Amino acid sequence: MEVKSSMSKTYEIAKESLRQQPKTWLITGVAGFIGSNLLEALLKLDQQVIGLDNFATGYRHNLEDVRAAVSEKQWSRFYFIEGDIADMTACRKAMQGVDYVLHHAAFVSVPASLKDPLAAHRSNVTGFLNVLIAARDAKVGRVVYAASSASYGDDPAPLKTEAQIGRQLSPYATTKYINELYADIFGSSYGTQSIGLRYFNIFGRRQDPNGAYAAVIPKWIDCLLAGERCVINGDGETTRDFCHVENVIQANILAASTTNDEAINQVYNIGNGGRTTLNDLYELIYSSLAKHKPSLADVKVSYGPFRPGDVRDSQADISKAQTLLGYFPGYSVGDGLEQTLAWYLRHSETSGEKV
Ligand SMILES: NC(=O)c1ccc[n+]([C@@H]2O[C@H](COP(=O)([O-])OP(=O)(O)OC[C@H]3O[C@@H](n4cnc5c(N)ncnc54)[C@H](O)[C@@H]3O)[C@@H](O)[C@H]2O)c1
Repeated sequence: MEVKSSMSKTYEIAKESLRQQPKTWLITGVAGFIGSNLLEALLKLDQQVIGLDNFATGYRHNLEDVRAAVSEKQWSRFYFIEGDIADMTACRKAMQGVDYVLHHAAFVSVPASLKDPLAAHRSNVTGFLNVLIAARDAKVGRVVYAASSASYGDDPAPLKTEAQIGRQLSPYATTKYINELYADIFGSSYGTQSIGLRYFNIFGRRQDPNGAYAAVIPKWIDCLLAGERCVINGDGETTRDFCHVENVIQANILAASTTNDEAINQVYNIGNGGRTTLNDLYELIYSSLAKHKPSLADVKVSYGPFRPGDVRDSQADISKAQTLLGYFPGYSVGDGLEQTLAWYLRHSETSGEKV
């Protein structure tokens, strides 16, 4: 697969510098989808990694999958702590000797946050504050944290720019926005360096297809691998900025490594900078899987009602990340889907079950 990663020269330089002078990283949420992908990338760059996770929505099998993808020597550079970010002792323990934190542990479900806002607050606000305090006290170089496009809330502009947000639409979104406010105040009050990455719709290997609130891409892949009919909410012309996890890895490495003072203590959109309709997305997934599973020829898609509260269009303006961080998403939606589908197909074959 030809990927335009050469477009980000800054990224190639940052990776080379890490290879030459390895760092110690803490990944919170390391057993989750994005966290385990960050772990794999960093171990492949011969970095030292500490991981913290309480397995709320992450899995040991994600860690085992990373283990299988790296050498034994690289795996020996990983130290895992099972613990909760809402527990300050666990955060302080995990922070020892760390150069960079990639903070990804969170209560991640929007609908579940509406049912249990206190649980969302515990992980996403108390936990976030613990991470910032422990990082400050341990004199960590920088905290890069997973922010969210959910912060845009009801902002009607289809193209989202960092400076203009609307009202958040869920406790989850509110907690993610509170993270940005705390990160900012830690910068001005204590000199803590941080960078927030507002992720749009991230997809890739190891994303959980199960559960009522699974993201659309793993859910549809899972459905089609089981030979079942997928449901598109609404007329299928809703658009989203789907972004492959390799681009997220790039954004995290650039955010941790940048020496540009202007780039620090900022928040960035991280997406592909494009829009894909749900109909086109379904077609891409379906046609690719149908090549491997001829039985899918008889499987038709069905349409359900629009989901209440869903915005019609959402696209990241990534010019700030391009200008200040040197971020250039090398994986298009098509490239990313190709890699993702290959992973799910391999896994459904080895497990003999649907993923
Ligand atoms: N996937 C996306 O499209 C997307 C979009 C916007 C933002 N984000 C953010 O990116 C981050 C990673 O998301 P993901 O999609 O990989 O989700 P995920 O559920 O796969 O990963 C989250 C991980 O955090 C762990 N965790 C949860 N609460 C914890 C706690 N209190 N203490 C320790 N560990 C805890 C979970 O066990 C899990 O391993 C989250 O902060 C999420 O809000 C993701």
